[in-house]
Amino acid sequence: MKTSICDQYGIDFPLFAFSHCRDVVAAVTNAGGLGVLGGTAFTPEALEQELNWIDEQVRGKPYGVDIIVPAKFEGKGEKLEAGALVDRIPAEYREFVTELLASHDIPDDHKRRVGGSSLSGDTGEALLEVALRHPIKLMANALGVPPPYMIEAGQSSGVPVAALVGAREHALKQVAAGVDLIIAQGTEAGGHCGEVSTLVLVPEVLDALAEVGSDIPVLAAGGIVTGRQMAACVAMGAAGAWTGSVWLTTEEAETAPHTVQKMLTATSRDTIRSAGRTGKPSRQLVSDWTNAWAPNPGGQKPLPLPLQSMLVEPTLRRIDKLAASGHPGAQELATYFVGQGVGLMNKVKPARTVVLEFIEDYLAAAQRLSDSVPD
Ligand SMILES: Cc1cc2nc3c(=O)[nH]c(=O)nc-3n(C[C@H](O)[C@H](O)[C@H](O)COP(=O)(O)O)c2cc1C
Repeated sequence: MKTSICDQYGIDFPLFAFSHCRDVVAAVTNAGGLGVLGGTAFTPEALEQELNWIDEQVRGKPYGVDIIVPAKFEGKGEKLEAGALVDRIPAEYREFVTELLASHDIPDDHKRRVGGSSLSGDTGEALLEVALRHPIKLMANALGVPPPYMIEAGQSSGVPVAALVGAREHALKQVAAGVDLIIAQGTEAGGHCGEVSTLVLVPEVLDALAEVGSDIPVLAAGGIVTGRQMAACVAMGAAGAWTGSVWLTTEEAETAPHTVQKMLTATSRDTIRSAGRTGKPSRQLVSDWTNAWAPNPGGQKPLPLPLQSMLVEPTLRRIDKLAASGHPGAQELATYFVGQGVGLMNKVKPARTVVLEFIEDYLAAAQRLSDSVPD
């Protein structure tokens, strides 16, 4: 394909792949798309190692880094001492998790620690410094307008800044803040998402940008796991697709093994948008864990970001390990971020194959569109 976004980013096919796994990032980039490493959960030292490895694998081909710096979070601007946020987790919430585990035959692990959260936003600047020492072609941010240091770093380094949005008005705020690329992410998406579907959000955002005279490119995201869906979004005016879920069941992904099995058999109705993982609504696989938290009827109201993820992430990791060893209660509780496209993800494949299938499916869809237009 030759489109302006392909020229701008030096890619063959405008398929952007968000993944926490460096192997997926390198495989997508080497197959002609653009891999984006989710960097938030790494320490700056670990991110440096991951990016060194990617540099060796892609040898100058383009890739990006995503660093979430939430615009709003508990404790923001209070300059808290380490551990002070932990003290804000009420005792009854720790008790609630203990009881939920007990009801699934999982004894409380007294070593279980609530701990720091990668969503507290406090490592964002250090991670960005590391990323900018590498030949990245894109930096992305989610959960609000990027912090001024990210916009400034983008301007001074010439690396475009992308922002995820789930609503028309958020796209306008991002344009006013100076981002270079909008990712219009519908509610179908895995991870944090809004309430508007991709099919409605993409044209809404494109129209809103046109009204303010902005021609910055818009990528479509949310539920896109095939080339035909990508073609539909390009037909609506998107410059390409930004994807996350589809890489979770690739050979390269580091998704917990039991969760992969759940994803392969899940239907598009087996996800829920719940704040029970991070404190902000995010789409995940339905499980006994998500059922225990609001908005599920009778569920516990989650704590705000990042307290909820500080409370639950170590436990969810322990659940994954127990589920992998065959513990039935843990298998009922196991969950992970994934979008509604999970219903179409039925086979483990190499990431490169996923890209090649996207291209084939995209071309067939484009042909169907073209055939539908009279000569
Ligand atoms: C497991 C997982 C983790 C995610 N984590 C982040 C993240 O750290 N930063 C971010 O900007 N987006 C994150 N996202 C959202 C993706 O960037 C992307 O917008 C979304 O996956 C697109 O929808 P899809 O899952 O239907 O492809 C995550 C998505 C998934 C599935």
